[in-house]
Amino acid sequence: MTSRKINNICCIGAGYVGGPTMAVIAKYCPEIQINVVDTNKERISDWNHENLSNLPVYEPGLADIISTNRGINLHFSCEVEKHISEADMIFISVNTPTKTKGLGAGEASDLKWVELCARQVSRHSKGHTIVVEKSTLPVRTAEVIKNILDNSISKFKNEDYVAKTFDVLSNPEFLAEGSAIRDLEYPDRVLIGGDNEQAINALSEIYLNWVPENKILFTNIWSSELAKLTANAFLAQRISAINSIGALCEATGADVREVARAIGSDTRIGTKFLDSSPGFGGSCFKKDILNLVYLAKYFGLPEVANFWQGVVELNKWHQKRMSELIVKKLFGTLSGKKIIILGFAFKANTNDTRESPAIQICKDLIKEGALLHIHDPKVNASQISKDLNANQINENNEPQVLEGNFNSWTEIKNIDSSFTDADAVVILTEWDEYSSINWELASKKMRKPGWIFDARSIVNYEKLANLDLNFWRIGDGSLD
Ligand code: NAD
Ligand code: UGA
Repeated sequence: MTSRKINNICCIGAGYVGGPTMAVIAKYCPEIQINVVDTNKERISDWNHENLSNLPVYEPGLADIISTNRGINLHFSCEVEKHISEADMIFISVNTPTKTKGLGAGEASDLKWVELCARQVSRHSKGHTIVVEKSTLPVRTAEVIKNILDNSISKFKNEDYVAKTFDVLSNPEFLAEGSAIRDLEYPDRVLIGGDNEQAINALSEIYLNWVPENKILFTNIWSSELAKLTANAFLAQRISAINSIGALCEATGADVREVARAIGSDTRIGTKFLDSSPGFGGSCFKKDILNLVYLAKYFGLPEVANFWQGVVELNKWHQKRMSELIVKKLFGTLSGKKIIILGFAFKANTNDTRESPAIQICKDLIKEGALLHIHDPKVNASQISKDLNANQINENNEPQVLEGNFNSWTEIKNIDSSFTDADAVVILTEWDEYSSINWELASKKMRKPGWIFDARSIVNYEKLANLDLNFWRIGDGSLD
């Protein structure tokens, strides 16, 4: 088995994937120098911040690795060109959001940052470079990257020209936020797609420093690209499926937790990803499914496109259903009512709010006149304001005028003292600290009739039995 020895890695994109992924490689490969580069100066300066609580990404276990490896074999820098030119292997880990205009707007992934990376690599790399797609990309993007790299070679020939050659591999990332370090250290699998044996071996040798050999899967490059989109689509589909059943449970007297337990014990179905919730959020599920929808349409498969589109539609409907339900339970009006929102991140253990269901639900409640008091242990107030004030896009991809004062919310610093005169508490993120709230104390302070809306099933509601509070939890048809 021959392979190329990798001494120097450059990762373009210091985001939620680039930062943690490179930190773990640095931890297990002390002999490799790793430079994570980004054009966003603020982000890089946060990665270099002396105070580790200022890192731009919050992930359990990340700060420990940064404190051990930063400045030793892990470096964060804005010098993109310099570090590209030094690297034997370059990971492209930049954002690939949904296109907002032009062909495929609202569905296709916007590859402008990936294309720019390919052009930068073609221009500044030296000798042989292995380019690794880490970003989630539509199937056949490697072809585009290879094309840009190959076509630029002769253009940049000059007197100090050193022959440039490239291999392109697909190595999609499957980490989930909140458990990124654990997922990277103990992955279910590492997927490598490509056709050049030396390049594949070079990449797999890096992973073999901590990943068992039988967990490294090899496929052709197109299967690897498509497998990543498919994995996210399947996971998101399970959430829409269980949330749809949750609505049916509420209508029929069944309990979605019991249904989930019953179906999850079938080993063919399995127990994971069956927690009903306010809907899936995060930067990837929606965008990756929409990308799949676009690809299916592009390849003339409208039935396939419609099937996956349904998963996104259900999620949208489900979030709307949550805010409507709160309005109905509070006598059809929220005008002047104080509502406590617990959790703004799209899931626990992350500071990421991208596509968080809390954004839409909070906007809906503000439009109804509610006075929101919002708490999240890791999301700061300026991020919440930014999210609440961001333009909404309608079905036709047009920006919507905001109705309501989205600056009128209040940040909660201390949960216990926030309950005074509150009409309702809405739990939207499953942070551990919300499961140990003293509801007896809260009940005494709240205005009556007071409500708890538990969209994450984390409140032990048997303990609420003697309290003067109304309780609703997701998917529980036994509650009125
Ligand atoms: P992110 O937005 O957090 O980070 C991307 C970074 O790339 C940004 O900081 C941006 O400034 C930088 N960037 C863009 N173009 C650049 C350029 N030309 N030169 C230098 N820097 C550049 O995104 P992310 O969440 O890390 O996601 C990155 C990719 O990984 C996406 O394709 C996403 O779908 C995929 N992914 C994300 C996750 C996740 O949990 N967030 C998990 C698996 C896969
Ligand atoms: C997801 C995938 O799990 C990762 O494998 C993938 O790499 C990543 O997307 C990506 O490509 O970005 P992530 O979005 O970070 O990871 O987090 P998940 O744990 O998958 O949760 C996504 C959303 O689904 C969250 O809003 C979460 O609250 C919700 N969810 C999850 C449920 O509502 N119920 C569940 O049972 C599980």
